[in-house]
Amino acid sequence: MCEAPGGPVPGKWFLAPFFSQTEDGTTMALADFLKQLDELAAQAVQAFGSATDAEAVEAARVEFLGAKQGRLKAAQKGMGEIDKADRPAAGKRFNEIKEQVDAAFKAAADRSAVSPVAAKKTEPQFDPTVPGTAFRVGRLHPITQTIEELKDIMGRLGFSVADGPEVEDEWHNFEALNIPREHPARDPLDNFYLATAGKATGASTALLRSQTSTVQIRVMEKTPPPIRIICLGRVYRPDTADATHYPMFHQMEGLLIDTRVTMADLKSVLRLFATSYLGRDVHIRFRPSFFPFTEPSVEVDMKWEDRWIEFGGAGMVDPFVLQSVGYDPEEVTGFAFGLGVERLCMRRHGVTDIREFYKNDIRFLEQF
Ligand code: FA5
Repeated sequence: MCEAPGGPVPGKWFLAPFFSQTEDGTTMALADFLKQLDELAAQAVQAFGSATDAEAVEAARVEFLGAKQGRLKAAQKGMGEIDKADRPAAGKRFNEIKEQVDAAFKAAADRSAVSPVAAKKTEPQFDPTVPGTAFRVGRLHPITQTIEELKDIMGRLGFSVADGPEVEDEWHNFEALNIPREHPARDPLDNFYLATAGKATGASTALLRSQTSTVQIRVMEKTPPPIRIICLGRVYRPDTADATHYPMFHQMEGLLIDTRVTMADLKSVLRLFATSYLGRDVHIRFRPSFFPFTEPSVEVDMKWEDRWIEFGGAGMVDPFVLQSVGYDPEEVTGFAFGLGVERLCMRRHGVTDIREFYKNDIRFLEQF
């Protein structure tokens, strides 16, 4: 190879021959240029011809056709060094060579199944023909769905939604509900008392509420009668988990206070609720029971598809409770009920084990 005076120009190896002038001017330079173009074309055709995979085709493309540092680009720049009169001939030959190399590249790209356009880019390309990735859409937990539905049904019966804390003091969980200090329901083994009592509530003893009846007291303390509320929320008891019990579950508390309220009103409301939630052929049965905060008290059973199921407790609000929140039991009466939300949901959907709700098994949860 010829060298420029003073040695080759670094990074311009293709141009180097054209700095070497023959005694009679540029004629030889053109000949050199054409010779080198032929050599370049032969090397390119050989490189593309022997490229068997996309990677090799891309490497040859960069070497010969690269937009910035490809060898054809360098040759094109080299034309500026040729005598003006010879440039048309050089340009014509350059174009022929360029077409030849382009064709070799396209043939190689087709052979290795790489589109010439795609091959120019190194990043993976978007293929619109590939099937898309399906997105998994989440859903509400079945108990949350049930709670929303119960709110909706009771809302249509005129009950608004009230709320209360899950960490309670003994006044709201027991005393105001006529459950005195010596009552077995306050046994530490039957409740989740909290070691951090003072910090959580300001009271000396605090516990996770064992029933939503606490909210009856909180609402009556703040609101004069008449009252018509429900409260749906979590309650906690140290019950051993089995098919129908769980240490954390949900209750729907209902409270209606007004003048001349009777047990007949209680039964009508529960019957209307049950028929809305389960279906028309539901029957309600009251069994005598005892709760310190209602008198008389009943267990509420619902019969649906030939089976009686216990859903909760209910009764007429005890005069002691009305007094403890400042109401006059001679003027107002009322009823209250507390139903197990999981039990309602289980019955409606045929779930036979309450533990299924809290295993977080997507195969179970996806069915709702
Ligand atoms: C009560 O909790 C009363 N507060 C209900 C009440 C309210 C009576 C207002 C009178 C007036 P009881 O402990 O029976 O009652 O619980 C009510 C319902 O909660 C039960 O019938 C049952 O459906 C549900 N339940 C009770 N314990 C569990 C448990 N461990 N797991 C799931 N559900 C439960």
